[in-house]
Amino acid sequence: MTTDLPFPINRLSPVSDPTKSSPIRKVMKMIEQSNDLISLAAGEAKFSPPPELIEAACTAMKTGKNVYTSTAGIPSIRAALSQFVESQFGARINPETNILLTVGGMEAIYLAARVLLKTGDKVLLPDPGWGVMIPVIEKCGARAEFYPQVETQTWTIDHSKILERMDAQTKLIVINLPSNPTGAMLSQDGFAKVVEKAREMGIFVMSDEVYHNFVFDGCHVSALQFDTLDNLIVINSFSKTYAVTGWRIGYVIAHEWIIQQMVMYKESTSLCSFSIGQWALADYINSSQNYLDEVADLCRRNMEMIVQRLSAIPGVHCSPAQGGFYLFPDFSKIEPSSEKIFARLLEHGVAVIPGKFFGSQGEGRVRIMFAADTEYIDKAVGRIEAAFM
Ligand SMILES: Cc1ncc(COP(=O)(O)O)c(C=O)c1O
Repeated sequence: MTTDLPFPINRLSPVSDPTKSSPIRKVMKMIEQSNDLISLAAGEAKFSPPPELIEAACTAMKTGKNVYTSTAGIPSIRAALSQFVESQFGARINPETNILLTVGGMEAIYLAARVLLKTGDKVLLPDPGWGVMIPVIEKCGARAEFYPQVETQTWTIDHSKILERMDAQTKLIVINLPSNPTGAMLSQDGFAKVVEKAREMGIFVMSDEVYHNFVFDGCHVSALQFDTLDNLIVINSFSKTYAVTGWRIGYVIAHEWIIQQMVMYKESTSLCSFSIGQWALADYINSSQNYLDEVADLCRRNMEMIVQRLSAIPGVHCSPAQGGFYLFPDFSKIEPSSEKIFARLLEHGVAVIPGKFFGSQGEGRVRIMFAADTEYIDKAVGRIEAAFM
């Protein structure tokens, strides 16, 4: 019971701890208050969504598609998605039972956590990793433990570091390929070993593939390439793929029992996902390959340019990303505090995110987003050079 609040608010107990609000949101507020800033902070692309997709959304809006849809998503988007994952990853899924359209990848993660986790369960997460998962796990009464990503020539995930942390308390392993914030990948063989061992031990694997389109070295390794969904929950989203983060539309692919449970939960929360987005994406996704190739190529060129120029700054180490749209360079020889690096860069007119928000290996680092036009990135890197040369 809270005593310094008026009645009847003082009858309530908090459901969330406001001091645990995402530190990234706080940084975003500071950034909003600065002028003439180049921002490589937010986890969203700065280039435009595909014009055909916007056109399809306008058509949907003008032709009466502004109403509720079924909770799982309209049949045509589920059919289009099953075709999409077959062409991209060779995966065969049932569009009627294995897919649920969600309010971004975030809702997919939240619903999956509600279905899978109970008090006392252990969840293995990558470190460095996307911290937003942690409060979701804690809200379910479960606890997070971490497996390290390793920086050698690039950041990578060594499957043995996951295997050695799996035990009887482990309920879920989260794998995020390519990684936010490092761009790390895991080999197909290593991934298969984790999924197989997890299945033997009754552990679920959540494969968060929201950056699947941004792979610079070889192909994306999707969990959908394995031959069963029994212990897999594949999270995906259109937010990053088509630069439509504000549409809030994503999807999850899993065993039909899990999907059915998630649908029941969603029925009494968001009810359905953005109708216009569903109709537009159903029309568009299977003709999007040119756009996907173009933006992935732009990101690869940006990434290489940043790596080359940051590596030329004495004391800075910047490993290339294998995928995703972030770099996680190390400035620790110049300044060990990631918040001080962030502040110095902000003074020079460029916003990033302090590395410490991404786990125990983040001090001395910042996360830099590189999904933007090359001129924008070029200008940002010029400011970083000015801050540290
Ligand atoms: C690794 C990862 N997973 C999931 C998401 C959720 O994205 P959205 O809810 O916009 O689909 C994000 C967003 O930044 C992310 O970085």
